[in-house]
Formats: sequence, structure tokens, C-alpha cells
Amino acid sequence: MNAKTARILDGKALAQKMQSELSDRVRSLATEKGRPPGLAVLMVGDNPASAAYVRNKERACAKVGMASFGKHYPATATQAELELAIEELNQDDRVDGILVQLPLPENLDAISLLYKIAPDKDADGLHAVNLGRLVRGEKGLRSCTPAGVMRLLAEYNIDLKGKNAVVLGRSILVGKPMALMLLEADCTVTVAHSRSQNLASITSQADILVAAVGRPQIITANMVKPGATVIDVGINRVVNPDGSSRLVGDVDFESVKEVAEFITPVPGGIGPMTVAMLLENTVSSYCLK
Ligand code: GUN
Repeated sequence: MNAKTARILDGKALAQKMQSELSDRVRSLATEKGRPPGLAVLMVGDNPASAAYVRNKERACAKVGMASFGKHYPATATQAELELAIEELNQDDRVDGILVQLPLPENLDAISLLYKIAPDKDADGLHAVNLGRLVRGEKGLRSCTPAGVMRLLAEYNIDLKGKNAVVLGRSILVGKPMALMLLEADCTVTVAHSRSQNLASITSQADILVAAVGRPQIITANMVKPGATVIDVGINRVVNPDGSSRLVGDVDFESVKEVAEFITPVPGGIGPMTVAMLLENTVSSYCLK
């Protein structure tokens, strides 16, 4: 056990700092080029968590002075309708970044929709071209959540070279790109997932542990190496005994903070970093035009 509780990696504060820098940059770019950078968020259906994320993204756009071209579709929207919307946004010179909020309703094919986004407007970095660039270590738009994790680790000068990193989760949104970014930073990376055997024996080897499986508080203190850096990507809504609800991560914060050296809170950790990276990606696309 650590003698003291873990230091908080404050994603909310860093995201605010990034957004205030971006807002200065956006103002001068808009004057120079005659228009602000623009982001289009496509949301389909009424998943309440997705609706909240999309609201946050659109609010953040407005706050830094970027244009936002949100399109909200009913759950009955067809694949063809959404493909057409993406084609139009690809052609629209006011739009620098396009993202499709995931998950989509089950009748829709997210992967083939992501292929329709012009790779240079792929603000979420989920197009095969951008994920391929990441695999090859080439420049390109990087997935926002793992890029936000890397930025937060850098802000706190957390040394990654040669460290054991364990990523729990293998989604294309977080787990896989996260593993690649940690590898790029010279970590020794292990990817664990729902079928991994003896999870605790894997996670307890981690100097850097990233939990991204969407299972409330699955990481408990006994699964964490003393002195580790613990990054919680999970955002899970759980119901309290009195019927109200609250957000918790994939990490049991209260017990793990007694063992770890650094830890991200939920909320206020990686969530705001994802939004800040999305804005940065959109400004990067704008600057490349
Ligand atoms: N769903 C949850 N997080 C994200 C995200 O960062 N991007 C997209 N497109 N969908 C999400």
C-alpha cells in the first residue's frame, strides 16, 4: 500500500486549459482565413448517454468559437440516408471535421459508414486510413479518447519508456488505438479483454493501467500494482439504492486511489480530454486545407 493516496490526473482542468488556448487560436485563424473551423456531429436515435456526449461536443465547439453543423436523425434513419449526409458534409467547405456518434442503432452498419467519411475530415480518427496510419506510425488524425489519455500522461510527465502498460478493452474506439499509442511511446503493451483468463494477474503487472471495458468498477485495489498509474476510460451510469443514479468508471476509485500513484477521476478525467482532442483534431484538419 502507498503511504499516501494517489495524485489526481485532472483531465477537466487540462481540457479547460487546452480549450482556452484553442479559442485564442480559432479567433485569429477565423480572422485570417475568413471562416472558423467547423465540426459536424451525426447523432442517430436517442440513446441518452450519446445525446449527453453530443451536447458536450457541440457546447465545446461554440465555446471555442468553432462552427458546429450537428445533424440529429431518428433511430429509423436508413444507411443510405446517412451515407448521403456524410457525402454532403465531405463536400461542404465549411466543415473540417465529421464524426458519427457511436454506438449506432443495431440495424445500421457503423464500419461502412465510417468508411464514407473523407479521411482528412475524420475528426474521430476511426477511418481505416487513419487507424492504418497509426499502425504504421505515420502522421494522421488520431482517435480522440486514447489521444486524450496520452496528452494527460504527458502533462503530468509520467514516464512511459519501457514501462508495462496494460489496456483492458479492445474496441476500435479506445482499446486498440490506445495499445498502439502506448507502443509508439515505448511501453511494453498487453491488451486484456472480456475473455482474458486470470485478469488480476495481468492487471497487477501494469505500471500504466488503462481500463476501457464499460464494466462499472471492475478494477479493484487487489488488481493494481502499488505505485501504478491508473487511467479510467469507463463512464457507467449506476442506480443508487434510493433510485437516483450516478456516474462511475471501470475503476473502483475509492479503493484503487489508496494503491495507485496517479489516478483519473470519473467524471472529470478522460471524458473532457476526449472533447478537447476532438476540437484539436478539427483545427488540425482546418489548418491542412
Ligand atoms: N461514443 C462514445 N465515445 C465516443 C467518441 O469519442 N466518439 C464517437 N464517435 N462515439 C463515441
